[in-house]
Amino acid sequence: MTGGAAAVSPQDALASSAILRAIHGQPTRATPVWLMRQAGRYLPEYRAIRESHSMLDLIGNPELSARVTLQPLQRFDLDAAIIFSDILPPLAGMGLRIRFDSDSGPVVENPIRSTRDIDMLAVPPAGETLGSTLEAIRIASAELAPRGVPLLGFAAAPFTLASYAIEGGGSKTYAKTKLLMYREPAAWERLMRKLTAVLADFLVAQARAGASVVQVFDSWAGIALGRDDYLRFVRPHTMKLFAALKDAGVPAINFSTGTAAFIEEVAEAGGDMIGVDWRLPLDAFWERIGFHRPIQGNLDPAALLAPWRELRPRIDAVLDQAGGRPGHIFNLGHGVLPDTSPDAVKRLVDYVHERGDR
Ligand code: CP3
Repeated sequence: MTGGAAAVSPQDALASSAILRAIHGQPTRATPVWLMRQAGRYLPEYRAIRESHSMLDLIGNPELSARVTLQPLQRFDLDAAIIFSDILPPLAGMGLRIRFDSDSGPVVENPIRSTRDIDMLAVPPAGETLGSTLEAIRIASAELAPRGVPLLGFAAAPFTLASYAIEGGGSKTYAKTKLLMYREPAAWERLMRKLTAVLADFLVAQARAGASVVQVFDSWAGIALGRDDYLRFVRPHTMKLFAALKDAGVPAINFSTGTAAFIEEVAEAGGDMIGVDWRLPLDAFWERIGFHRPIQGNLDPAALLAPWRELRPRIDAVLDQAGGRPGHIFNLGHGVLPDTSPDAVKRLVDYVHERGDR
């Protein structure tokens, strides 16, 4: 909230925004809130644009991406926007063909099946292959910065992207990914190194284009892997990614799901703030990573489908568990579900702000 007659530069307005203060562990007047997938199919205005544009059209068109990014902020008093894209476009630049099917989600048409496929992958600079998203960030951040609203950039973590590239789509067992990991550990290393290089460069480029924060989505590491495999095959790379982001000059959020069994180890990979899912109460996560580490989360996205008499105590629980400590951004434990009512989102956002940080 910038208001007032005194001229405040966009940089100062952003630096004093509740989102950036919370990421830096500083107190805020009310708990800031944004939601993963806040731009998406639950919004009629999003579905209207999707009627005439495919997902890849949207991602490839900077003006449309920026417009969709801003849609939820026109309806709700959200504290941040997240650039509209998906986690898969970096794979296209590396030489994989991506198709978005309407029902089954995206498909990699030529998934990685051999060590040769790994050695064939290109490592192009983000400016060459992901320019439309960088341009969308320039457009959206130019709109948001004067209002003091930060724009988040994002990318997948190397494991989540690797598993998509290997499985070719969603998976229940991640058997192909694990087979490569176990049978060809040297090729796995080469794959993870290439992905880490592409993702680090892309995230730094997003920060230069105007993103005030970046979030790394390791949505699948904890679903697919036990702690020991995470530590051996994944964390060294995730750690290098967060180390490389120190050059970006913007803070980073380390988000994962299914990692309640080893959240301490995930937090040690890096990131200025740790994003957690709903599988433990927020305070149980927070105690384990240490109250000095800022935290984001963690309402179950399905709670937004519940009637208010059920939803409200669940929001209260998250805020009560945060206990008014500085360093909390309210979010869901994963993305907004497509069946969610926009009215429920509005009520949630307003309620978090009205309650303040008591
Ligand atoms: O929070 C955000 O909005 C950031 C952007 C983002 C999207 N997807 C936009 C999107 C992010 C971070 C993702 C994550 C993602 N996408 C993952 C990691 C797992 C997760 O959910 O965190 C994976 C594997 C994908 C690939 C993907 N994209 C799938 C499986 C699907 C179809 C299923 C689904 O949930 O919609 C998509 C489509 C997608 N990605 C949409 C959006 C807004 C819906 C597009 C549409 O149908 O209009």
